[in-house]
Amino acid sequence: MVDVVLGLQWGDEGKGKIVDVLTPQYDVVARFQGGPNAGHSLEFGGNKYVLNTIPSGIFHEHCINIIGNGVVVDPVQLKKEIEKAQTTGIDIHKNLYISEKAHLILPTHRLVDAASEAKKGEHKVGSTLRGISPTYQDKIGRSGLRVGDILSPIFKEKYTNATAIHCTLLDSLNFEYNLSEHEPAFFEAVEFLKTFKIINSEYYINELIAQGKKILAEGAQGTLLDIDFGSYPFVTSSNTITGGACVGLGIAPQHIQKVYGIFKAYCTRVGNGPFPTEQENETGEKLRKLGHEFGATTGRPRRTGWLDLPSLKYAIMLNGVTDLICTKSDVLSGFEEVLVCDAYQLNGTTIQQIPFGIQDYTIDPVYSKFEGWQGDLSKMRTYTELPETFKKYMNYVEAQIGVPVNVISVGPDREETILK
Ligand code: IMP
Repeated sequence: MVDVVLGLQWGDEGKGKIVDVLTPQYDVVARFQGGPNAGHSLEFGGNKYVLNTIPSGIFHEHCINIIGNGVVVDPVQLKKEIEKAQTTGIDIHKNLYISEKAHLILPTHRLVDAASEAKKGEHKVGSTLRGISPTYQDKIGRSGLRVGDILSPIFKEKYTNATAIHCTLLDSLNFEYNLSEHEPAFFEAVEFLKTFKIINSEYYINELIAQGKKILAEGAQGTLLDIDFGSYPFVTSSNTITGGACVGLGIAPQHIQKVYGIFKAYCTRVGNGPFPTEQENETGEKLRKLGHEFGATTGRPRRTGWLDLPSLKYAIMLNGVTDLICTKSDVLSGFEEVLVCDAYQLNGTTIQQIPFGIQDYTIDPVYSKFEGWQGDLSKMRTYTELPETFKKYMNYVEAQIGVPVNVISVGPDREETILK
């Protein structure tokens, strides 16, 4: 059986911590999309680790970790990440498997990402500049290179042909670059990658399913950044929803059982694009400060705002969420009042659905107000300990979305988790 864990907002919902908490129940954790644009933070034993491409089950010795075919892999970045993770004493070679069909991020993909964002000027997406969009473009354009290609005797030739196209594009954009600065590290990392288990992961995962193993499919980014259903074009370049787990791992839909949807008690977004409940004021600043809302990958300050129920309901519908997990409830402690957006006002009409081309219109959120809660929630370990005002807020959210919230995370550490 396969369960899926994914984000219901614009990413940074705290997926890494939740996967780490759930991992003891699973034999395998498998990433199915995205790449090093993700930054999954895990904290335990007083230390913090940020994973970009490695699945978040890596710190559990029993757990097999698979980078699926739907992921895009930057060898340079992955090498750095593995070397860092190895300092914990975990044997990464033993537990990490990489799909031969995962696409490779080449140094030129990163350069093309930077050049296209620069060309877009004020209309830029606000990409993480990790080469994600150019790599997925090559995948769909049928000109990408895959991890399995590094084992080919003509890999260098394939690389030269692929990068030649990118260089023509970079020249046409008048983008200054020096590829030879990046290539030695790339080829060194490619050799490093060859020392890992590069496998046909779809056969492997399906064999594990047949053996009755428990698999957790780990999503990256969030539903509202999905290439099809997010606020296009301000999205990432992969399917971040449950359906993405099927194509990103090669598993049939009927194997999927639970879908854990993670949402923050408020909202954040990095990069550009619509954000109806954004608070560009003191409240937003307070949320950013208390929630340490700065990107785990790029360090950029995150935009902050109130919980948005129409978009949360949309995400729950698209993913078939069975279990909800609310994170960062502790951050809202100390606010006099807490707001929740129930609907949007568009041209004087109240709407419950996200309109097409939302960025072209002025959307006014319709809010319900709740009395805030006080005290340090991060010290609480049972639901009964939580303040009544918090429970009132959570009961309202559950009633509106119609799915129970099973887990409440009250801090970044593994221990700071309440099972309801
Ligand atoms: P890209 O995926 O780097 O191309 O970035 C596209 C958009 O998705 C930008 O607005 C990024 O800030 C956002 N984004 C990409 N990955 C993440 C993530 O892991 N968390 C939050 N936002 C992300």
